[in-house]
Amino acid sequence: MQAATSAQRNEGLTALFDAARAVRDRAHAPYSRFRVGSALRDERGEIHVGCNVENAAYPVGTCAEAGAIAARMPGGGRRIAEILVCGDGAGLVTPCGACRQRIREFAGPDTPIHAAGPDRIAKTFTLAELLPESFGPETLGD
Ligand code: THU
Repeated sequence: MQAATSAQRNEGLTALFDAARAVRDRAHAPYSRFRVGSALRDERGEIHVGCNVENAAYPVGTCAEAGAIAARMPGGGRRIAEILVCGDGAGLVTPCGACRQRIREFAGPDTPIHAAGPDRIAKTFTLAELLPESFGPETLGD
């Protein structure tokens, strides 16, 4: 397969952003009122989405990224090529610590993680920047 041109990459990123923004509207966040949408692209180019789903028993609630990763599992590819998180915070909305580890399971150090507000992507990190010296499947060995 040929490498994507920069126009194709931009188009792909727009699709990822649009998907995360759209699914954010489906969030169930009556307690925090902080709605989050996430979209990931697997290595086959397919997009999978998730939103946060809170629960009256607070710790049972789940993050948007966890939903997107769960949606990927049944029919999706094996790897996360890139992932985007979309929320409306005062600062950057980056994945929480637990979600960084969830992403780590299926991504490499250079995997892009995009932090977006409702209108635009604010900043892009690599996984290694957000989760340096991480523990992962290969740490366990065979
Ligand atoms: N949240 C996410 O969905 N993803 C994150 O990475 C950060 C936090 C959700 C969890 C909770 O429903 C709300 O945002 C406020 O913490």
